[in-house]
Amino acid sequence: MSKTIIISNRLPLQISIENDHLEVTPSVGGLATGLKSFHKDGDSIWIGWPGLTEEEIPSGLKDEVQKKAKEENCVALHLTSDEIDGFYYGFSNRTIWPLFHYFMEYTESDDDYWRYYKQVNQKYADEILNHYEEGDVIWVHDYQLLLVPNMIREKAPDAIIGFFNHIPFPSYEVFRTLPWRDEVLKGVLGADLIGFHTYDYERHFLSSVSRILRHQVDFNEITLPDRIVKVDSFPMGIDYKKFEQAALDHFESTSADQSELQKRLDHHLKDTPDAKLILSIDRLDYTKGIAHRIRAYEYFLDKNPEYIEKVRLVMLAVPSRSNVPQYRRLKREVDELVGRINGKFSTVSWTPIWYFYRSMPFENLIDLYTTCDIALLTPIRDGMNLVAKEYIATRTDKTGVLILSEMAGAAHEMNEALIINPNNFEQIAAAMKTAFEMPREEQIERNTMLQKRLRRYSVEKWAEDFMKSLRGTKENRDAFKSI
Ligand code: ADP
Ligand code: G6P
Repeated sequence: MSKTIIISNRLPLQISIENDHLEVTPSVGGLATGLKSFHKDGDSIWIGWPGLTEEEIPSGLKDEVQKKAKEENCVALHLTSDEIDGFYYGFSNRTIWPLFHYFMEYTESDDDYWRYYKQVNQKYADEILNHYEEGDVIWVHDYQLLLVPNMIREKAPDAIIGFFNHIPFPSYEVFRTLPWRDEVLKGVLGADLIGFHTYDYERHFLSSVSRILRHQVDFNEITLPDRIVKVDSFPMGIDYKKFEQAALDHFESTSADQSELQKRLDHHLKDTPDAKLILSIDRLDYTKGIAHRIRAYEYFLDKNPEYIEKVRLVMLAVPSRSNVPQYRRLKREVDELVGRINGKFSTVSWTPIWYFYRSMPFENLIDLYTTCDIALLTPIRDGMNLVAKEYIATRTDKTGVLILSEMAGAAHEMNEALIINPNNFEQIAAAMKTAFEMPREEQIERNTMLQKRLRRYSVEKWAEDFMKSLRGTKENRDAFKSI
């Protein structure tokens, strides 16, 4: 029976070693959290990196890693520390990530990184081919594996290959600055179907293909000498029912089951019943606009001193890619900003920012989503932003206000949120004020619309639509051959 082979750099499970034992935790990030429910329900295997370098895994535990992965229908692909440095911290996260998010000043062009990127992409392609049987569908994910589709195509010309890019695709003027632009485009074009979160990313990609490779582009189809490649937008959704149910369970739980975090949040609410909690959750990444958010919050408190002691920003930042210098610098900047603002505004009984720099279990995320009155998400660039969707899905009484950057892919589908430009502090401060004062009925009205859309365009539907379209390309290919 044919199966789907999912392939992404990071597996949905993260393996670490604690006291000579393997610990398995869920991976953080939209790709892993979103795709996990599709994988769970379907007949698929998922190939990817388990989060430790080959050298970090004691030889006696290698089989154990594979066993843990297999329990979740995953295959662990081991990468050496040199490969992780050159491929992951190097080309993926010092070249492609910043370039595709328009951080050109952070983008490095290094031949060694490129060499490792090709080597590791080949390693992934070879591993896929080890598992591939005729009739299988191969689904490659994200910017770390842009060369994989064509590497598979070279060995398995008839394979059905889909590619989905979870981050923005930049405009041609930005993309063209990449020294390896031709190779990267040719790599992706090995796929039959290429998906993006938004129509804008799709348009940018098509424009780069037509101007750099000079292929014929008609509407959303690219004609190659032997095949047609389809490009389309598929905005990724969330596992709506999972978040809704988790929120309902949360409200039904007894106080004995409450987490320490929830107790602390409740304490705050009891002490200051008319105060509001503003939430932000992201990986600590310079694309997320964390420093902008803190500065906008400072601006808000400066301009609206009547809100002192009446508001608190609960900011959860998850450690990410800390071997890359810009991430380390951002960590220092955020630490300093939080310290400075807490020092500037704190009173004996109140601090304006609660800052957590760690990963948290799912239950705690639900505590935060369900308890905070406002979510403030200010990315400078973001492929989608699933946190925005998760926040709305957990608001089972339909109250709560989402303030969301127009630079997030999610903003295209979430018009009822308060949409802001993350560079405009005055606008963010005004949105915060609007959020505080928004009547309950208006919150319910906005969230009713948002929830209806999110429930309908769930991650299941996203995967279904992509797969349906991918299978359709096979028929097009057969028709193309017969011409
Ligand atoms: P990105 O993919 O850039 O990290 P998204 O907002 O699209 O951004 O996705 C982040 C995902 O990671 C969400 O599904 C969110 O629930 C999850 N997540 C964020 N913070 C944590 C955390 N502290 N612990 C566990 N999961 C988290
Ligand atoms: C984003 C990317 C994913 C990545 C995730 C976490 O969601 O699109 O591909 O897995 O961030 O980043 P990390 O570098 O930890 O895998």
